[in-house]
Amino acid sequence: MTTTETLIAAAEAHSAHNYHPLPVVVASADGAWMTDVEGRRFLDLLAGYSALNFGHRNRRLVEAAKAQLERVTLTSRAFHHDRYAAFCEQLAGLCGMEMVLPVNTGAEAVETAVKTARKWGYKVKGVPSEMAKIVVAGNNFHGRTTTLISFSTDPEARADFGPYTPGFEIVPYGDLTAMRSAVTENTVAVLLEPIQGEAGVLVPPAGYLPGVRELTRERNVLFVADEIQSGLGRTGKTFACEHEGVVPDVYVLGKALGGGIVPVSAVVSSAEVLGVFRPGEHGSTFGGNPLACAVALEVIAMLRTGEFQARSAELGEHLHRELGALAGTGRVTAVRGRGLWAGVDIAPGHGTGREVSEKLMDRGVLVKDTHGATVRIAPPLVIGKEDLDWGLAQLRAVLGM
Ligand SMILES: Cc1ncc(COP(=O)(O)O)c(C=O)c1O
Repeated sequence: MTTTETLIAAAEAHSAHNYHPLPVVVASADGAWMTDVEGRRFLDLLAGYSALNFGHRNRRLVEAAKAQLERVTLTSRAFHHDRYAAFCEQLAGLCGMEMVLPVNTGAEAVETAVKTARKWGYKVKGVPSEMAKIVVAGNNFHGRTTTLISFSTDPEARADFGPYTPGFEIVPYGDLTAMRSAVTENTVAVLLEPIQGEAGVLVPPAGYLPGVRELTRERNVLFVADEIQSGLGRTGKTFACEHEGVVPDVYVLGKALGGGIVPVSAVVSSAEVLGVFRPGEHGSTFGGNPLACAVALEVIAMLRTGEFQARSAELGEHLHRELGALAGTGRVTAVRGRGLWAGVDIAPGHGTGREVSEKLMDRGVLVKDTHGATVRIAPPLVIGKEDLDWGLAQLRAVLGM
């Protein structure tokens, strides 16, 4: 057996089979490239589902982490630490908001947003006790906790995990009329991904997000934007909502906020909204820890320069031009996305998303399929144009062009 086969067999023997990874075992990585245990190099066109927007082991971020490792890494929130205030202030500033509630993973941040919206509903809006409703969209992906899968429409994510958490109304994504009908006086929030990532990089129709903004403002409902995957430069702007000129009431952030080094997530909003919490009502041992804050502060400083957003916009235009050309060949049925983020639907007869991903792996390119026919492309924003072009050439070759 090769080293790869031995390690995969050992993982399969001792790890729950809750993922179906491609058969590659990564040993090191740098920028947009990964190297496996056999010494083969792979171009990373997935970027940890956007957790690696700044590339693997980004020098600035590694230095920030190293410096913090030499000072203090964890205090718990029982005490203050000297990176916390700056992190909260800087992140709120980046979002144009006032307050931050830091946690760790994406799912934990969405859970936090759900609790925030409910508490705001009862304490500020005056919704009767236990009656709060949150409107969400079909095909959403907000994470894997029991509450979050309670409003998933994906049978794989839901089946056999009930009983489910009540209090959610699901409407079709992109359908403003359905959204309008679903909002009642007990609705506390609309929770949406401004672009649905796991669903296959679905961009809603123009006018949808501004329509949701108007509706939520009219009905005194919080607009909660889950920008965990779409935010922090991925689409060519800091937030995907910006493409439609929309500012939500609440941002939910994660993934790239931790610079691909540590899990960092947060809910960011106004003082009116996040001010509803009192000591003891919510928290996390690791949320807002010194190491997380140090890395995230560097991430925020990098985003403040605007250069990553600009690069994503510029290279993204090139990516979509190249992928758009594939759509006319009969081998690809649709290409969606914004910036350095694309969902590519492979035409029937030209391989499933998984088969295309495996063939790309054999050619030294790593991507991941979703929902059968779709391949997602989301390279680190620091990828070189030549590397991206080489990756796209491999895709064309796999599609027989
Ligand atoms: C939009 C969105 N929300 C939430 C999550 C969950 O994040 P995590 O896997 O860190 O819990 C994801 C993960 O893919 C996501 O894309």
